[in-house]
Order: sequence, then structure tokens, then C-alpha cells
Amino acid sequence: MSVLIRGGRIITASEDYFADIFIDGEEIALIADSLDVVADQVIDATGKYVIPGAIDPHTHIELPFGGTTTCDDFTSATVAAAFGGTTSLVDFCFQMPGQSFRSALDTWYEKVDRCKPVIDVGFHMAITDLYDGGTLADLAKVPDEGVTSYKVFMAYKGAVMVDDETLFKTCRVAAETGAQVMVHAENGDVIDVLVKEAIAAGKTEPKWHAATRPAITEGEATGRAIQIAHLAEAPLYVVHVSCKESIEPIARARQQGWAVMGETCPQYLFIDETMLDQPFAEAAKYIYTPPPRAKENQEPLWDALGSDVLSIVSTDHCPFRIKDQKTLGKDDFSKIPNGGPGIENRMHLLHHFGVNAGRFSMSRLVEMTSTNVAKQFGLYPKKGTVAVGSDADLVLWDPLKEVTISATTHHSNIDYNLYEGTDVTGAPTTVLVRGKVVIDGDSLVAKPGHGQFLKRARFGQELTR
Ligand code: URP
Ligand code: ZN
Ligand code: ZN
Repeated sequence: MSVLIRGGRIITASEDYFADIFIDGEEIALIADSLDVVADQVIDATGKYVIPGAIDPHTHIELPFGGTTTCDDFTSATVAAAFGGTTSLVDFCFQMPGQSFRSALDTWYEKVDRCKPVIDVGFHMAITDLYDGGTLADLAKVPDEGVTSYKVFMAYKGAVMVDDETLFKTCRVAAETGAQVMVHAENGDVIDVLVKEAIAAGKTEPKWHAATRPAITEGEATGRAIQIAHLAEAPLYVVHVSCKESIEPIARARQQGWAVMGETCPQYLFIDETMLDQPFAEAAKYIYTPPPRAKENQEPLWDALGSDVLSIVSTDHCPFRIKDQKTLGKDDFSKIPNGGPGIENRMHLLHHFGVNAGRFSMSRLVEMTSTNVAKQFGLYPKKGTVAVGSDADLVLWDPLKEVTISATTHHSNIDYNLYEGTDVTGAPTTVLVRGKVVIDGDSLVAKPGHGQFLKRARFGQELTR
């Protein structure tokens, strides 16, 4: 099957030009002005940007967490992702306490086999137990399967939190195996004290979720993780940075040339802590971790994206229904499952409030949602760019298309949208994954199962066919 995309404006992280693209099978075969070739399918891209498909490096699909399981499977989540212009994602495979890494991987492969994706998917390994579950020797073997990043949680005490010993040992194994270390940075011990005190004092409403996880606990843990990873000579990636307190240590480390990178997510750019000060059915939608912060953190987050102190915007898509899952904590904020949805609207929001608002260029948007992700997580140049030899993961983006973000039109199984009623200009119109049109206008035109498992390269290495 061949496809010719005619007349589009190709925008990558480093280039912006008009050309035709010829796709042969799954790959981009030719890029040139006015290509004179015969193709099975011709797509007119006049007036559209042609960008590399976005990659989401932070999702939680069918994850047992907080006493329930996230409500998207690999079909619903990847359909929603595709409608939003995301053509690959990397999900967190969880080694649950007491479980081996082999068993954790098999559990996640089964999820993908059962609920087939429409876009390509890879895994990170979330490490929760190096005492009674996984061994260091087994951890070292995980990258052999193309799972080339290890994630640890410094919070969620009593559930998936690890101690500094585990973090340090993980970093050492990563330094040996060429894996990327990822960290959820919050001081879980301190937060545990604050949560217990709040509950004992009868402070059970959702707003106490934020009050018991102050920004300083994130800043402290970010600084600690940076020092520990540096000592172990491992590359560190700090997920979901939400506040000035953690931007600062990341900025310092990067200034010194340390291998540290940070991501943020739309919920920290657009939602602030006042959203928690509402009746339960509304406030519970905003229970995710780190929590929504004071509004004064939002401009520093945008600035950090502009200055490359933060380099990637992921979603941390972790959907729990409001009607019957968030309600687990209706009498106790600490029992509300932590997580929010967002996989479908990342690009809409960043294009409208980032590019249209003049905060950064379209190239920078591509860099933060595709190219940097591909480079950091062993997918480049197969993914993350528009180039001959790369996978034809392409999004035709109409910069003038008007969309109202809503739960009634999105494709996740979640029953609310954090950005309900937000009007944006700019949206995908056609989405291709490895040369096949997956989304055409408002229609899903590929079958679940088109998505493949991504065996990623090790940190710093390129992924070719
Ligand atoms: O609230 C969140 N973010 N839930 C998902 C797990 C995590 O911390 O990323
Ligand atoms: Zn987290
Ligand atoms: Zn997460």
C-alpha cells in the first residue's frame, strides 16, 4: 500500500517547509516538492500542517490502583489517543509488591493482547519491590525486551512507594544496563504524616488532598532524586513536574550538564487548586497527584517549557470514572483514586494556549510532544520526526479547525473531561500510524490491532528498523 500526501506544510522540531510525502508500506520513502508518483491513496494536505505523530510517554492503562482499576483498556485509550494526534504511547507496566518482573511483563503483554491497540505501544517498568519481588539480576534483564526505562515512586506510602535504597539500587542497575530512570518525586513519608493528621482532625473533603501534599514535598524529593541518580551516574527523568519547587532543582542540574530531564502535563498548566474547593462530585475530578497547585505556578511552568528546563509534555492519563470510582473516597479524600484523564486533548490544548497564544512555536510543540520523547525513550528516528526511513506516523493538523473539548465527544471510557467546554482552534484531521490512515475526520478507520508493541532502544541509542 502506498500513500501520497500532497501540498502540506511539514513541521518538525527543526524544519518548517512545504513538500509532498510518499509513503511506501509503513515508512516514509520520499519527501520532495511536487512529487510525480503513482500512489494507492492520495491525501490533499493543502492548508494543513504535517507533523510527526505525538508520543505520550506517561499513561496508566488498565492499572489496578487506589482500590480500583483505571477505566481505559488498550483499545479505548489508544483510540482516544489517535483522535488527539497521538500515534504511540509508553505505558507503565507495574511490578506489584511481591511480584517478579517477568510476571509483571506477562501481565501487561496480556492486556495488550486482549484489548488490541490502534497505535503503537511500549512499556516502562515501574519498580515497587526489590525486597520480596524482583531481584536486581532480573531487573537488569528487563531492557532486553525493549523495556528500557525504570520508574520509581517516592510517594504512595504503603502502596507502591520505594525507599531511597531501592531508588539508588535501581539507578545503579540503570547505569549498567542503559535504562532511563523515571521518578515520581514527592516525599511520601512526610505526606503520610500530613494525611493521617488531617483525617484524624476530621478534614476529609477533597481539598485536603492538595493541602497534605505541599509543593515543598515535591521540591525536596526532586532534589533528592537528582542527587541520588547523579551519584549512581544514571540518567533521570522527573515525571509530572507541577511547581516552582521542583522546576528549580531541575534547572540547576541541567545548568551543570547533568543528565536530568523534566516533563509536565496539561493539568498543571491549566488547572489550579481552587478546583478542589467545590462539592465532592466536582472536586473529585481534580484528585490527581501531584495535586493541582496554586495558580502562581502556572507561568513558571510555561516559562520552563519555553527555556527547555522542562522538555516534554505528557498526559499522565489515569482515568477513574466520577460516577462509581472516585466515589470510593466520598467520606475520606485519601481513598479517592488518584488520577485524571487527558490522553485525547493534549495537542489541542498546547496548540491553542501555547502556539496560538504566542508562547512557543509549532516546532517547539512538535519537539515537546514527539521528538524529545522519541529521543529520550529510545524511539528515534523510527518515531518522532518526518524523514525518509522513519515510520509514517503522521498527523495532518488543521490550524483553523474549531473544537469544543467535551466528555460527550471524546473517546476514552472516562465520564468527564477536565477541560469541559473549552473552545480551541486547531485539531488533527487525518492521522496515520505506520502508513495506514487510522483517523479520517471524525471516523476511526483502522481496526484495533493495527498498533504494534514497541521494542525501544537503550538510553542514548537510536532505534532503526
Ligand atoms: O494521580 C496520578 N498521577 N495517578 C497516577 C499515578 C501517578 O502518580 O502517576
Ligand atoms: Zn506519579
Ligand atoms: Zn502517572
